Amino acid sequence: MDTCFPSQTFPGLDLDFLGPKRSGKVRDIYERDDQLILITTDRLSAFDHILGLVPFKGQVLNQLAQFWFEETSDIVANHFLESPDPNVTIGRKCRPLPVELVVRGYISGVTKTSLWYRYSQGERFIYGMEFPDGMSKNEQLPQPVITPTTKAEKGGHDELITSREIVEKGLVEAGLWERICETALALFVRGQEKAARGGLLLVDTKYEFGLAEDGDLLLIDEIHTPDSSRFWTESSYREVLDCSAQEEGKGLRPVEPENYDKEFVRLAYAEQGYIGDGPPPPLAVDLAAQASLRYTGCYEFLTGRPFVAGEMPVADRVASCLRTRFGRQ
Ligand SMILES: Nc1ncnc2c1ncn2[C@@H]1O[C@H](COP(=O)(O)OP(=O)(O)O)[C@@H](O)[C@H]1O
Ligand SMILES: [Mg+2]
Repeated sequence: MDTCFPSQTFPGLDLDFLGPKRSGKVRDIYERDDQLILITTDRLSAFDHILGLVPFKGQVLNQLAQFWFEETSDIVANHFLESPDPNVTIGRKCRPLPVELVVRGYISGVTKTSLWYRYSQGERFIYGMEFPDGMSKNEQLPQPVITPTTKAEKGGHDELITSREIVEKGLVEAGLWERICETALALFVRGQEKAARGGLLLVDTKYEFGLAEDGDLLLIDEIHTPDSSRFWTESSYREVLDCSAQEEGKGLRPVEPENYDKEFVRLAYAEQGYIGDGPPPPLAVDLAAQASLRYTGCYEFLTGRPFVAGEMPVADRVASCLRTRFGRQ
């Protein structure tokens, strides 16, 4: 993959001694018995394409997920076992459930599965729930809602699905589904509380769950990262509310809150006229650099710790760590 930061970015790597590799959009995955080695790369995916590489993104995602797994382990068990390198997690291998849970605290978003998109198209009964007339974009919901989607096979699109359909189709057993929904809401509340301490609003987020071999329910993949979530700065959200109140009726476009997540890149593409039709233009160097600052900034706001970059080049460091650990001696 082309990159303007060849020695500072991490596109992924092939490690033959770990056996066959499976690649998601962002992670490279190797299986070892009942464990997974999840290597988080710097790939940035949006509009169902990998747009390019963002320096430090992989490390931020891996270390933020670890932070949150530790912060939420009293709510639900998770797959995290250890992180032998800043970009690597070793986790318990699971059978992932075929649905993802998106929890939303605000009515927002521009993609077709987002609440605001559907609401703005005139729908008032969305994801099996009733919404009143008169809501505005980015308004906080009276309470967070769960909007599930099916988990698409590689290359496919996630499809909307209601809780009733999930149970009726036998995708998840009723009792388990109820437990998962309660868990997701509890995780979301914890995320909002903790993010608020760093001046961020957790707007919405996605959770994945799996069942371990012994039947344990585990939170898997990642949690409350800027890839799986939207974060707004609390101060900018307050400004937007003030501004909208003043400008109501003047027909002005609402200003967007300042975001510390992937939406930043999506909005920059949308401003240049790209909204997902055809192949996307590659990620420009300055946009990659700005996105990098958003990702490391997000880490710092949420954890309250400075971001400390691991040794470069990342690929050499990851390879050497895993070779020492798993390679043939
Ligand atoms: N503990 C786990 N057990 C099984 N699969 C997992 C586990 N944790 C994450 N995964 C899966 O590994 C993949 C992570 O790679 P990623 O690049 O995020 O994929 P995607 O393109 O699907 O987002 C996802 O498909 C996720 O469902
Ligand atoms: Mg993923």
